[in-house]
Amino acid sequence: MRFSRRVEQLVHSPIGAAHALVGLRTNERPLLDLSQAAPSFPPADPVIERIAEVAHEADAGRYPPQPGLPQLREAFANDLNDGYAANIKPDDVLITAGCNQAFCCVASALTSPGDEAILVAPFYFNHDMWLKIEGVEVRYLEPGPDLQPDPKQAQALITDKTRLITLVSPGNPTGVTIPKETIHEFAELAHSNNIALIVDETYRSFRDEQSPAHELFSDSNWRDNIISLHSFSKDFAIPGYRCGAAVGGKAAITEALKVLDCLAISAPRIGQEAAIAGLLHAQQWRLEQASRIKDLELRFLKSMDGRPGGFKVISSGAYFGWVQHPRPDLTTQEVVRRLVLEHDVLTIPGTAFTNTDQAMIRMSFANLEPTQVDELPSRLNEFG
Ligand SMILES: Cc1ncc(COP(=O)(O)O)c(C=O)c1O
Repeated sequence: MRFSRRVEQLVHSPIGAAHALVGLRTNERPLLDLSQAAPSFPPADPVIERIAEVAHEADAGRYPPQPGLPQLREAFANDLNDGYAANIKPDDVLITAGCNQAFCCVASALTSPGDEAILVAPFYFNHDMWLKIEGVEVRYLEPGPDLQPDPKQAQALITDKTRLITLVSPGNPTGVTIPKETIHEFAELAHSNNIALIVDETYRSFRDEQSPAHELFSDSNWRDNIISLHSFSKDFAIPGYRCGAAVGGKAAITEALKVLDCLAISAPRIGQEAAIAGLLHAQQWRLEQASRIKDLELRFLKSMDGRPGGFKVISSGAYFGWVQHPRPDLTTQEVVRRLVLEHDVLTIPGTAFTNTDQAMIRMSFANLEPTQVDELPSRLNEFG
């Protein structure tokens, strides 16, 4: 048997690699797990109750309508209209089995092997991996020291093969929120070059401000170039139920649906029902969780203030701290290995998000309890 060279050349799942390191531990001390950006707390009660109820319904195990349950498309369009002061219609919403799948469907619909795509560095690794699986040439937009992408530099990367630019805001791994003015400039760039602007908004509820993240949907032509991606995983703490969405015009939704048909046929009904329950009955809970995670970020920044062990926070936001480690003489992989095996701190190496080793690691503080955040500096000091 022979495998796809494109797939063989990919790195292993960075999250899987982190979990494999945990298997090598011999220390008894409880681990501080700052690896995966996944809610470590249960969903709101109405969501749990609805999930249990759905299992008893006659159509629970049937395929849902392919673009998603009408009630979810409508509830999510309403939610977006509240969040962006927009006029999104249920038909603009394609429900997928998570935001990762939304990206895969959309990116595959937009590209052919040999085409080019632009990602902002440091990039979300699954975007990079999927584009490579598809045989798409990825061009990386290096941001300035403030970690903001520059639309003018992006213009210089566009060729006649470019099909899409992807922004992630707030970013994974940096946590940085891109100002709406910059997002609008990227939209103009996409429009003038007849390419797609994909905005992955998985962490939009975890921004510092609750004002609209952008006003792209106010442009009557937004459906020509804009595709906005969303996740219910973090907002309603249901990552395992796999539910997300792509929001775009008729052409984008129609083409992406063909890919979804092959990948999953449709998103799981149970996840969609959980998302509906969240949207209808857990909005206050959603705000409370976002505020709790903001408090954790402030606590994290305070505990990292004295640069424990020489670890320096370069940026933070949403679920993440993007942290420079103090040992550029070692590979970041080795630093991460020592942190987990010797100091019981699990992180993701920055090399999962960059093409070169820049002595960075990602710390998902949102996974921790407040007391665990307080414990972090002493563990990092041991390393230093
Ligand atoms: C930027 C970004 N997009 C997408 C996802 C995946 O979201 P989902 O669980 O909805 O597939 C993640 C999860 O970590 C993410 O960080």
